Formats: sequence, structure tokens, C-alpha cells
Amino acid sequence: MVLAACFIILIVVAVEAVDNQVSYPINVHGWVFGHHPHVTHPQADGDTSTSSKTTFFEVNRPIDLPAGSKLLCSTPILNRHVFGDTGDAAPATSQFATCTAGATFDRVVLRWQGSCTGRQFGRISTVWVSGVEVVRTCTPEFPDGGGSWAFSKDVTRFTSLFKTVRKVSVELGNVPDVDYNGVYNISIFLDFYQTGLKRQYASPDLSTAPAHKIKAIALPNPKSGGYWFRLGGSDNPQSISKEVTGLPRNAYRAVLELCVSSHGDDESWFTNPPNDYADSTNLTFGNGPFREISVSIDNKFVGSVWPFPLVYTGGFNPLAWRPALPIGTSLVPSYDLEITPFLSYLIDGSPHTITLTVTNSLSVWLIDANLHLWVDSKGTTTFSSLLNYNAPYYAPSINSKFSGLDGQFVVSADRNYSFSGWVLSSQGNVTICVTSSFTYNNTVLLEDNYGYQTANLLITSQRQIVTSNDTAILATYKTTTEFPFGITCTQRDGPNDSTYLKCSIAHGMSSDEFAIYAKGNFARSISNIQTAAGELNVASDNTVSGGTGSLHQQYDYKGTKGCYKRLLSTQDSTILADSSSSICTPCNS
Ligand SMILES: *[C@@H]1O[C@H](CO)[C@@H](O)[C@H](O)[C@H]1NC(C)=O
Ligand SMILES: *[C@@H]1O[C@H](CO)[C@@H](O)[C@H](O)[C@H]1NC(C)=O
Ligand SMILES: *[C@@H]1O[C@H](CO)[C@@H](O)[C@H](O)[C@H]1NC(C)=O
Ligand SMILES: *[C@@H]1O[C@H](CO)[C@@H](O)[C@H](O)[C@H]1NC(C)=O
Ligand SMILES: *[C@@H]1O[C@H](CO)[C@@H](O)[C@H](O)[C@H]1NC(C)=O
Ligand SMILES: *[C@@H]1O[C@H](CO)[C@@H](O)[C@H](O)[C@H]1NC(C)=O
Ligand SMILES: *[C@@H]1O[C@H](CO)[C@@H](O)[C@H](O)[C@H]1NC(C)=O
Repeated sequence: MVLAACFIILIVVAVEAVDNQVSYPINVHGWVFGHHPHVTHPQADGDTSTSSKTTFFEVNRPIDLPAGSKLLCSTPILNRHVFGDTGDAAPATSQFATCTAGATFDRVVLRWQGSCTGRQFGRISTVWVSGVEVVRTCTPEFPDGGGSWAFSKDVTRFTSLFKTVRKVSVELGNVPDVDYNGVYNISIFLDFYQTGLKRQYASPDLSTAPAHKIKAIALPNPKSGGYWFRLGGSDNPQSISKEVTGLPRNAYRAVLELCVSSHGDDESWFTNPPNDYADSTNLTFGNGPFREISVSIDNKFVGSVWPFPLVYTGGFNPLAWRPALPIGTSLVPSYDLEITPFLSYLIDGSPHTITLTVTNSLSVWLIDANLHLWVDSKGTTTFSSLLNYNAPYYAPSINSKFSGLDGQFVVSADRNYSFSGWVLSSQGNVTICVTSSFTYNNTVLLEDNYGYQTANLLITSQRQIVTSNDTAILATYKTTTEFPFGITCTQRDGPNDSTYLKCSIAHGMSSDEFAIYAKGNFARSISNIQTAAGELNVASDNTVSGGTGSLHQQYDYKGTKGCYKRLLSTQDSTILADSSSSICTPCNS
């Protein structure tokens, strides 16, 4: 079995870097925070994990299709493609022709079916359509017997891409070797549905009001690796800039969708201690536990994201994530930034520069973005201007003290910004106000000469978007999200230079959204919490000689388009309890 999480392959040289991690001194002080011990060459008989096939899954609400929806056609976009020794090769490519009933579909669902022949690390994978990222996912971390997994994603927001023949690219960097011999076999389908629901272009929900045009902010035609930009550390810049030109002069709305995942030294950035500690102990990666992804246009800050602290499929204790995967690993979250107040910066006919930055990033963040644009079919140009711009300076506060291997690091941050602008189109002169506020609070505590480690983190974000004209409020949208993460680990030296590790983890993702607009409204809330616990014995040769892992998950979705609740308990790859219901219970008793 393996302890490493979602690996990516950097460059051919770095393929060896994966191997170099074998020598990571877990038996000296198995650093759990910041960096996971990488047990890359376990002996098969030391592996307590099952050798039968495992069917992995991430708990999510099943795709909800209105009654009477018709499946028009199902198009394979990748058919039983085997990702063997793909390393940092160029993405697998295919072309798909749209459904012949193309004009009438109003819902598109991407279905992923994958299997793995044997033991393998979690690997990051992304699907691009004409260079636009539509899915990012991390494969499960497969034990000896291999197995399979599947998931679906509503990709209706990318409707404009699915109307003509397109190039599909799928990157999944895999490096099989004698111990990690698993090769992945992936099929991906697009299912086109007719639900009969009307497009509601005033809706803030991108699946109800898909953009008319989508522009990739990504690498063009990669010869190796994916369309991602690489940020962080000394290997890569902290920021990348991309020039955009030729945007439609009649756009009236713009949303930038940010797609990111962090790997290597920043895989668990949210437990990284500050540099002074990292430098003085040599145990781990530094730069502290705070990251912000920010966007600017022509060097003017236009918005940011405080990202979800993703625990990968091999994170902390891989035995806990079998068969239910950590939150957000099958569907790695992307983040929508409403940038309509800055429309005049983008569509004046001149080239503009979009810059993506990950503050404090270590190597490596894989990042790209999709610029969604809505155009006024009744006019050839829109007019717009920024009205108010309020983005005060902020800086996280860091309180760090340590002595030897023990220390306490408290980082907190608080940020507000708001922008407004007007857009004159055939719909009249509409003003849009976007307000965002964030809080971050993280306490990392190391005690008992590094034998006891805890981190407690809460990230909250709130956004509000209001559009109005001179006589009425046209739409209001509010969303609040919370990302709690907590971990407690104890570790001690065992006999024969082995290490005993015991960790419990509680993390989650919750959001509340509501929207009121001219032709409709919606509300939805999601609360998704996992608590995991387990123990590992790691021998001096980095093999795992025993371990346990348990998981409880509570998933609760409530919305104006239905409800879904699921309760799941697992222990050592066995499902102990699993119940679900789609009955709405508005008040929790
Ligand atoms: C890939 O998986 C499919 C089932 O989805 C199977 O029929 C096929 O034989 C597999 N291909 C290889 C090369 O293993
Ligand atoms: C940290 O590592 C560097 C380079 O390997 C070494 O020179 C230094 O002595 C180490 N410091 C400690 C405190 O172990
Ligand atoms: C941000 O706004 C909230 C109210 O929405 C306020 O409580 C908080 O103090 C503000 N933070 C900063 C840094 O201005
Ligand atoms: C649109 O409305 C805004 C806010 O009321 C105003 O400042 C702007 O001048 C208007 N634009 C046009 C072209 O009338
Ligand atoms: C941050 O977390 C610590 C420990 O969990 C807590 O004592 C403190 O009140 C929190 N601060 C804020 C601003 O929430
Ligand atoms: C504002 O929008 C409403 C609803 O679309 C419309 O009835 C009204 O005429 C608009 N007012 C102006 C000044 O454009
Ligand atoms: C430690 O290793 C020695 C030599 O390999 C072995 O005889 C002994 O049983 C081991 N002790 C434990 C507690 O595993």
C-alpha cells in the first residue's frame, strides 16, 4: 500500500524525483504535516490491504434530471484508453462529433468509468475540450488487487463547446514500476439530454444559463503534460500571465472559472509550517499554511479564491479512504469569479493580460482558467465601465513560536473587497455589484518532541452579486461556504526503527446559496463532512506492516430542486452502514 497522494509527473527528470522520495526518512521523524511520508516500495506481503478488487466512489448527490428527460445520445469521448507508462507525455486525444440531435439538447452529463489493474498511486487527471478544462479528478489509490471507480459531472455549463466537432485531450500521468504496476483503463462519455427546461440567462447558475463562448486561459497545444500552467516554488513562477484578444465586443457578462490542484511540496499546504521552522528542522516544507489564488487583468486585481484544503486519495492515512474517497477528489472543485464589473477592460478590442497567482505557493500548483462570456444576440457592441473599486490591502497575521521540534503556529486572515460596474446592452443599462469576504484561521500545534501534531483550520467565504437598473433590483445572488479541516496525529518510534502513526481527521465542505432573479429563484445548501481515523505501522524499510482505517460521512443536500442525504460508515475497506434518502427534511432535529 502507499501513503503518497495525488502524484503528478513533472518532467522526465522529475519522474525520478518520485523515486527519490523512497529515501524520505519516515523512520527518523515521519513528518505527517506539510509532507507525507512516501512509502514507495512496500513489500507486497507487508501490505495488509485487500488483494481483491475494490470499487471506489466519492459520495455526491446523483445527477438530478427532471421527470420526462430524454437521453438523446451518448457519445464516447475516450474509449477504453489505457494509461500505462504515460509519464509526462502529451495528453491522450480524440475527437468527438456532437449528438445529431445536437440542436435540441439542454443538459450534458459527463460520465467517467475507470479501472486499474493493480497497485498504483493516486494520479491527477484532467479532461480538456478544445483546451477548456471540463473535469479535474484524482484517481483512487489502488491496493494490490486494483479495482474500479466511476463518477458523473453535470457539464451543461460547457454547452457552447459541445455544439461542434471538438478535440478532446485527457492527461493522466502514470509511472508504473515493479511494485506499482497498476495501469489505468479509462472510458469517458458525454450524455446529451433534453429536459424541456428553458434557459434562464438571468440566472447566476451556469448550468441554467450556460455561457455563449468560453475561452481557455491555459497553455496552447501542450507537447508534454497538460494544458495546465505550473506555479510555485523555485522551479516555477508564482504567477503566470496570458494575453487574451478577440473577445466578443457584444459580451454583457463574464465569469472566470479557476481550476487548480496542488501537488508535491504543496500537496497539503494547509499544514505547512513557516519557513523558519522548516529551515531549522529540515523536516518539512515551509511557506506557512495560507494560500490565495488571485486574478488580475492588466495588473489590476479583480478577485480571488481561498481554496478548499483538499485531502488526496492517499492523504494522511490511505486506509481510511477505501472505498469512499475524500471529499472533492473525484470532482476537484473549480471556483467561479464574477468579473462582469471589469468587462470594459476585456472587450475594448485591444489585447489584455490575465494573470493568475498563487500566493506563497511551493512547487507545484497546476492551474488554468475558463473565461465564460455571455453575448448580446440583439446587438453588435455593449458599452460598460467600472463604477466602484474597493480592494484594500490585507495581510495574514502569523504568530509563530517554536523550540526544537515543538511549536505553535497561528495564522489568521480576513479580507473584503467589492466592485461595481455598469453594462449597457439591449437589456438596458444594468449595474452589477460584487462583494466578497473571507476569513481564515489555522492553528498548528506540535508537542511532545514532535510526537503529537494537530492542525485546526476554518476557511469561510461569502459572495454577493446584485444587479439592478435605475428602477429595480433585477437579481440577487448570495453564497456562503465553509471549509473546516482538523487533524490530530500521534507518532512514536516502534521496535526495529519502525514508526507508529495514529491520526484522526475531520474535514468538510458546506455551502449555502440562494438566488432571486426576474424569471426564477433557487436555493440550495450542501453539508458534507467526513471524519476518519486509523493507525499505521511503518517499518524501517518504509513498508507498511499493518494498519487500520475507518470513515464516517454525512452528506446532506437540500435545494429547491430536490434533496439528498447519505450516511456512510466504513472500516478497513468494508462498508458497515450506508443509507440514503431523497426526502426533504428542512429542519434538523
Ligand atoms: C478496459 O476496460 C474495459 C471495460 O470497461 C474492458 O472491456 C477492456 O478489455 C479493458 N482494456 C484493457 C486493455 O484492459
Ligand atoms: C539541513 O539540511 C542541510 C542540507 O542537507 C544541512 O546542511 C543542514 O545541516 C541541515 N540542518 C539540520 C538542522 O539538520
Ligand atoms: C469584512 O466585512 C465584515 C462584515 O461583512 C466585517 O465584520 C469585517 O470586519 C471586515 N473585515 C475587514 C478586514 O475589513
Ligand atoms: C448606466 O448607469 C450608470 C449607473 O447609474 C451610470 O453611471 C452610467 O452613466 C449609465 N450609462 C449610460 C451609457 O447611460
Ligand atoms: C482561531 O482559532 C483559535 C483556536 O482554534 C481560536 O482560539 C481563535 O479564537 C480563532 N480566532 C478567530 C478569529 O476565529
Ligand atoms: C428595469 O428592469 C425592469 C425589469 O426588467 C424593467 O421593467 C424596467 O423598465 C427597467 N428600467 C429601466 C430604467 O430600464
Ligand atoms: C526486530 O528485527 C529482528 C531482526 O530482523 C527480529 O528478529 C525481531 O523479531 C524484530 N523485532 C520486532 C519486535 O519486530
